[in-house]
Amino acid sequence: MGILSKRIVVLPGDGIGPEVCQEAVRALKAVADKFGHEFVFDYQLMGACAIDATGDPLPAATLEACRAADAVLLGAIGDPKYDNNPSAQVRPEQGLLRLRKSLGLYANIRPVTAYDRLLEHSPLKKDRIQGADMLIFRELTGGIYFGEKGRNADGSAYDNCTYSRFEIERIAHRAFRAAETRRGKLTLVDKANVLETSRLWREVVQDLALQYPKVLVDYLFVDNAAMQIILNPRQFDVILTENMFGDIISDEASVIAGSLGLLPSASVGDEVALFEPIHGSYPQAKGKGIANPIATILSAAMLLEHFGLQEEANSVKKAVDNALEQGVLTPELNAKSPYTTEQVGSFVAYGILDILDCQLHKNNIALGLSTII
Ligand code: IPM
Ligand code: MG
Repeated sequence: MGILSKRIVVLPGDGIGPEVCQEAVRALKAVADKFGHEFVFDYQLMGACAIDATGDPLPAATLEACRAADAVLLGAIGDPKYDNNPSAQVRPEQGLLRLRKSLGLYANIRPVTAYDRLLEHSPLKKDRIQGADMLIFRELTGGIYFGEKGRNADGSAYDNCTYSRFEIERIAHRAFRAAETRRGKLTLVDKANVLETSRLWREVVQDLALQYPKVLVDYLFVDNAAMQIILNPRQFDVILTENMFGDIISDEASVIAGSLGLLPSASVGDEVALFEPIHGSYPQAKGKGIANPIATILSAAMLLEHFGLQEEANSVKKAVDNALEQGVLTPELNAKSPYTTEQVGSFVAYGILDILDCQLHKNNIALGLSTII
């Protein structure tokens, strides 16, 4: 791959978002340095910070910049002052939902891996989760999230769930193609024993399966799937599901990895794509230097893969593996001798650049000497 020039919009967002984004940007700058690419970073407002500054969680300027960009990197959004107020008319989450819809990001892809080095940190038993490696495809712009919603005259409330054949087909094709390059298994998670939309999902997936004879397809009701993910996660390869079920089971599956702070995600459509950690804005940790930047750094690696930069993405993943291996980790994964958000980020950036041998590197970071990047 030759030298690339790309424009990346960064939406640091709220809470720990800015801190973890900073480390992911550092990793991307290290990649640009090492491989000779040019990445231009354009910082924009989204979420509670955008409401505070403009009254709108997704200002027009932000949306315009995202549309014109090659990719978007998002930290996290959300603030407790909205969570505890169900009658708030304007909420940070509306910005994210509108952004997904406006950019046509219909497929949310969340890999979940049980890292050997971290098996002890999962609350689940080691022998259950060792070797688990799944890829969740969550539909992101349809279903109950975007259906008509409101209040009736009698005070009751409703949220409509609708799916078209087209909306199911386009994400199902992506999931099938991914299964072909992995272990060849696709599990559709639905509630076809109760919901009409789920029956349509099954019909469509059964039809498409004929085009992918190498992929073994099975079907699980979401309640059973929720249990199976914890009981026997190794049975899953690619999981395909609708918006709401995907929201729930992907948080559940994250327990397997040992920390929410490790899991990246990509949201893709037909044009620009967005990359974000799956964790939230963790407001209690804001400014304390304890947030794990790895999920956002790995989201940056997915961004590089999206650009077709596999070698570059691998250099980021290798540097992260090294941090896991050497225990250069934030307190939730290394309570005894924790590193700060910035130190973990430095270690990864230096790892990408192969600047120092690891031991020296680790010592320098501990001494606060690693300030080049
Ligand atoms: C996620 C989040 C969002 C969702 C919220 C913040 C609207 O939970 O990305 O999983 O429900 O999709
Ligand atoms: Mg969620």
